[in-house]
Amino acid sequence: PRTAAVIPAAGRGVRLGPGAPKALRALGGLPMLVHAIRAMADSRAVSLVVVVAPPDDAAEVKTLLDAHALPGRTDFLVVPGGETRQESVRAGLEALPEGYDIVLVHDAARPLVPVDTVDAVIEAVRDGAVAVVPALPLADTVKEVEPAAEPGDPEPVLATPDRSRLRAVQTPQGFDRATLVRAHETVTGNVTDDASMVEQLGLTVVTVPGHEEAFKVTRPLDLVLAEAVLARRRL
Ligand code: CTP
Ligand code: MG
Repeated sequence: PRTAAVIPAAGRGVRLGPGAPKALRALGGLPMLVHAIRAMADSRAVSLVVVVAPPDDAAEVKTLLDAHALPGRTDFLVVPGGETRQESVRAGLEALPEGYDIVLVHDAARPLVPVDTVDAVIEAVRDGAVAVVPALPLADTVKEVEPAAEPGDPEPVLATPDRSRLRAVQTPQGFDRATLVRAHETVTGNVTDDASMVEQLGLTVVTVPGHEEAFKVTRPLDLVLAEAVLARRRL
């Protein structure tokens, strides 16, 4: 089955601070989005990349992709995104042509995911899973709290879940296309990843090992780390 990657890249990057939309911010001299697209196109299985761009920057993104050509075997499309990540992913799915039965959804904000992780996700879908997420054990202990009314106020701790059963999940998340489309048609309410929508359909989501370098660039310190990882790769 042919595989396409949808890359939600339409977010503003509020937590990263003022500047261009996060996906267009520079990393190693190139927009973060270009790294994220190459990370998907590096997989021989991926033959189409659908970039969901910030609505005001869709033309600029198209130009960018023409300038930083992908390997010849990979096509790409650019579509404008929505107000939420979920809406942006849905816009990407709606633009997906017939004939792609496996879909990856990958955050533009995870520019450095290694190709082995991408391939492991695809492999697990090929082996029959309807939804696959790369996951890592947590380094920190996690507490459930009663959220404070004012930011910075002390918060009472309610519980400490057993850390050995918790995982931090990354992207690309991989899906049977029909399942993901149905999840997006059916599930409403706030979600922070695509796999949780498939869980809400009552279907089983499985994990494969994630990778440290698939971390999400969210806050300014993450950009420092991303530059360091890239510099180490170029040695
Ligand atoms: N995203 C999107 N459309 C939105 C919001 C987010 O396509 N309306 C994308 C982002 O571009 C990013 C991915 O979803 O690649 C993960 O989101 P996040 O890291 O939260 O990025 P932002 O929403 O841009 O950052 P912030 O929440 O700090 O504003
Ligand atoms: Mg966000």
